[in-house]
Amino acid sequence: MKFSLVALFPESTRSILNSSMIARAQRQGLVDVEEVPIRDFAKDKHKTVDDAPCGGGAGQILRVDVVVSALRSVLQEGTSTRIILTDPAGKQFKQADAKRLASYEHLVFVCGRYEGIDARIQHYVDESLSIGDYVLTGGELAALVMIDATLRHIPGVLGNPESLLEESHTEGIAKEYPQYTKPIEFEEHRVPEVLLSGNHALIQAFRSDRSHSE
Ligand code: ADE
Repeated sequence: MKFSLVALFPESTRSILNSSMIARAQRQGLVDVEEVPIRDFAKDKHKTVDDAPCGGGAGQILRVDVVVSALRSVLQEGTSTRIILTDPAGKQFKQADAKRLASYEHLVFVCGRYEGIDARIQHYVDESLSIGDYVLTGGELAALVMIDATLRHIPGVLGNPESLLEESHTEGIAKEYPQYTKPIEFEEHRVPEVLLSGNHALIQAFRSDRSHSE
């Protein structure tokens, strides 16, 4: 699966993309991440990517012509592709979206910055997604969150496929059961006795009931 990050500062995602599960998936050839710096597609010698808002107001707006040139540079004929705009006003990204997006061969994330992108970008994307009800300084972090959650649904990416299986049974991470490991006793906190009992039926029952915690 290929991810393209169309952004002003796509390199800002490297520290995350080059660590742990995401790095391993890239090394294994399961995933390819392409950085597409919008500034490389500026049309003038000053490399201008933004301008003042039409009608006045504060801030700068990313130019649609420059962003669309960057976006078009990554599109490949005959590849199933989804173009996503990271947008605090978009539909909220959920676990079901991660699963849905994992079925494409190519995901292109168009990441906003400054006060936003010219609204005409809507004509060039398939959907607008938000990672939550707050405004980030740029869409790169939002794209990373969506990439991370999507990657986990690509066969072979997770070291242990059962991790995903167990989650999908319960429809999401939030419904996972509490987990423990050694030491059995830490300060005044002990691992629940049932997990040490070796009784699998009781352990299953404990895990089905999320209300158990320390
Ligand atoms: N860009 C800025 N804030 C965002 C958010 N919450 N979700 C997606 N993209 C964003």
